[in-house]
Amino acid sequence: MQTVRVELGERSYDIVIDTGILSGIGERIKGFNFSKVAVISNPTVFNIYGDVVINSIKNAGFETLNVIIPDGEEYKNFNQTYQILTELLKNKLDRKSCLIALGGGVIGDITGFVASIYMRGIDFIQVPTTLLSQVDSSVGGKTGVNHELGKNMIGTFYQPRLVWIDIDTLKTLPKREILCGIAEIIKYGVIWDEELFEFLMHHRESILNLDPLPLTHIIRRSCEIKAEVVSKDEREAGLRAILNYGHTIGHAIETETGYSRFLHGEAIAIGMNREAWLSEIMGFLNRKDALKIKAVIDSYGLPSELPEDLNADKLISHMKLDKKVEAGEMKFILPEKIGKVKIQKGIDIENVRKALN
Ligand SMILES: NC(=O)c1ccc[n+]([C@@H]2O[C@H](COP(=O)([O-])OP(=O)(O)OC[C@H]3O[C@@H](n4cnc5c(N)ncnc54)[C@H](O)[C@@H]3O)[C@@H](O)[C@H]2O)c1
Repeated sequence: MQTVRVELGERSYDIVIDTGILSGIGERIKGFNFSKVAVISNPTVFNIYGDVVINSIKNAGFETLNVIIPDGEEYKNFNQTYQILTELLKNKLDRKSCLIALGGGVIGDITGFVASIYMRGIDFIQVPTTLLSQVDSSVGGKTGVNHELGKNMIGTFYQPRLVWIDIDTLKTLPKREILCGIAEIIKYGVIWDEELFEFLMHHRESILNLDPLPLTHIIRRSCEIKAEVVSKDEREAGLRAILNYGHTIGHAIETETGYSRFLHGEAIAIGMNREAWLSEIMGFLNRKDALKIKAVIDSYGLPSELPEDLNADKLISHMKLDKKVEAGEMKFILPEKIGKVKIQKGIDIENVRKALN
């Protein structure tokens, strides 16, 4: 069992990573003295893992209930937030109750958001079941839902009490979703850790086979990096922005394609490659490293290039509206070498256009 600590003073918490630990969640939270525990999930995940989690919590002596919302990003909204809050009120959850998010990033984000506003804030635990949520969304305390005028526009910073990662849950995750998580892990390699990047290059086959040893290694390392960054800058006043590498172009691609053509990690993979080239164009990154970034993305079968039908000017207009824009200035996270990035503002649009073409 591997434990990574997120150091945030009295809000510090553990991320526990291992195989076959789903049924151990009840035992782990026994000491927390919750009055009731509600598991929030969707039918896809709950049908596979719901019983194991509910039984484990019951066996540990807790009164439980489950609240199931439909599966999909389109349900990460106010309406479902309201439905969950209603169920919690009907079932008389009080301020000592706890929510467990059982699912991917959608379930994690909405559950965290509900936990942060129910009775002015109750405890919640992340049990992430996608690779992306295990290495990214379950850690760091960004919660939220989408608004029809923008994705993730409504939310809170609210840390979980515990993150409980059973990597065996990845065995039922579709390969395309696994690759989205890989894209985020490549991101950690580029922004922070050359060794992780090299590890991804050299262990592709065993990682894609979901061999527990390399898989645990890359998940643990990703969580350590995110924990370190979040501990230093919880509310994204500065450093935390480096986690957005690949996301400025990636988000523009998602917006332009209506969130339907590419999964998040796929859009980020294209964004990482194109932002590496932006860095190369601006003279911050050498060509060899830019090519290496593209090569690792390609080797996992992730997309690295913009489809021809996507128009650079349209993408740029989306970037200008992105929530990462500050005082009208676009901000990019640009690699200087593998393992190190800089936050660059005031970039000439012509260079962005070149990087997109
Ligand atoms: N809070 C953050 O810091 C943060 C960071 C990155 C992304 N996000 C958010 O995360 C969301 C994306 O998360 P995601 O990629 O996990 O997508 P997701 O939650 O939609 O899950 C993807 C699909 O996999 C299914 N699934 C989940 N676990 C499974 C399993 N073990 N076996 C079989 N199927 C399974 C889900 O039901 C869903 O259909 C987005 O809403 C994004 O905005 C948040």
